[in-house]
Amino acid sequence: MKMRAAILTATKTPKPYATSRPVEVAEIELDAPGAGEVLVEMRAAGVCHSDLSIINGTRPRPTPMALGHEAAGIIADVGVGVNRFKKGDHVAFVFVPSCGHCIPCVSGRPALCEPGAKANLEGKLLGGGRRLSWKGGENIYHQVGVSCFADYAVASERSLIKIDNSLPFDEAALFSCAVITGVGAVLNAAQMPIGSTAAIVGCGGVGLNALLAAKMLGAERIVAIDTDERKLTHAQQLGATDTFNATDNRCIKDVRDATNGGLAYAFEAAGTAEAMETAYGVTRRGGTVTSVGLSHPETSFQIQHVSLVAEEKTIKGCYLGSCVPARDIPLYINFYQRGLLPVNKLITRKVPLNEINEAFDRLDTGEDLRQVIIF
Ligand SMILES: NC(=O)c1ccc[n+]([C@@H]2O[C@H](COP(=O)([O-])OP(=O)(O)OC[C@H]3O[C@@H](n4cnc5c(N)ncnc54)[C@H](O)[C@@H]3O)[C@@H](O)[C@H]2O)c1
Ligand SMILES: [Zn+2]
Ligand SMILES: [Zn+2]
Repeated sequence: MKMRAAILTATKTPKPYATSRPVEVAEIELDAPGAGEVLVEMRAAGVCHSDLSIINGTRPRPTPMALGHEAAGIIADVGVGVNRFKKGDHVAFVFVPSCGHCIPCVSGRPALCEPGAKANLEGKLLGGGRRLSWKGGENIYHQVGVSCFADYAVASERSLIKIDNSLPFDEAALFSCAVITGVGAVLNAAQMPIGSTAAIVGCGGVGLNALLAAKMLGAERIVAIDTDERKLTHAQQLGATDTFNATDNRCIKDVRDATNGGLAYAFEAAGTAEAMETAYGVTRRGGTVTSVGLSHPETSFQIQHVSLVAEEKTIKGCYLGSCVPARDIPLYINFYQRGLLPVNKLITRKVPLNEINEAFDRLDTGEDLRQVIIF
């Protein structure tokens, strides 16, 4: 079938993207779902920094690629052998498909699914192959098995979670990446206890979800750190007790002084070495740094070795919120519906698909938090 999709044709084009237009909204061909796959009619898709990182070259990926990985929609058709979904089901995407059989999957760590990671790296669906083409047959790469900046997607049934039909799609889309990543970092990776203290380094769509989770846990102190004052204002409105600007050379020292030696937990959600070093610096003795930011493959960060040892600090990486999506997406939706996790406050703009390049400019300049494309 024919449909509209946002195709990344070139990376590292000059800014603003509204002028260089690296993403083309084009009519392309979508194959029917194969065995174990479904056709999803897209209803809402969030714009995440990981998409921007493919455009600006921070996450090198092949082109042409159909972008987008945070979305919710409706099952429109099912392929052979699919029995967990039926037409009309509401679903959220998961940006790591889980095969259910590999060692990480059977060990309860589906975010590390090995066939899932391989398919994502190759720009294919979990079952192998690509379902997208244009220009008389040229294949288009899938982004992490999702490619949701499009009217429809064919995806592995292992890339989807059934969600509550009463949840509006724009809100549902956020649970697909920003919410599971930020909230999962706090609840799954750090396993932060109630009433603790936290620093959020990088207060965009993902970091502010970590902030909301820390608040839900009754954190005594939530320190928000960003390079952009507008993000610090958002953080304060959502429950940060203190804000610090990372562009200030004294930032780490000021945070440590203000918090009696630092915070017990720090969450890095910016995707830079500087942010990682700030997160480590503001973590108190015995504390834990959890990093979710995705930087360039050649980026390294520096820490003082002796402090790691003598102060018994812990550094953790966290992908997909270290979530079990089938358990955590419905759980976090339930938190939202009970008013514990007001993630709808993170949606700052709703955008039509043909404004995708402009949306990436606004994410890049920090003008918006989560923008949601509405279909
Ligand atoms: N681990 C995962 O599974 C996962 C999932 C989604 C996103 N991510 C990554 O998380 C990061 C955040 O994504 P997002 O969509 O929230 O991005 P965003 O652009 O909305 O937010 C990033 C924030 O970091 C701030 N920042 C930049 N440099 C900083 C510094 N040195 N110190 C403090 N703050 C700084 C920016 O001002 C911005 O507010 C990205 O790297 C993204 O690729 C990871
Ligand atoms: Zn994302
Ligand atoms: Zn697996």
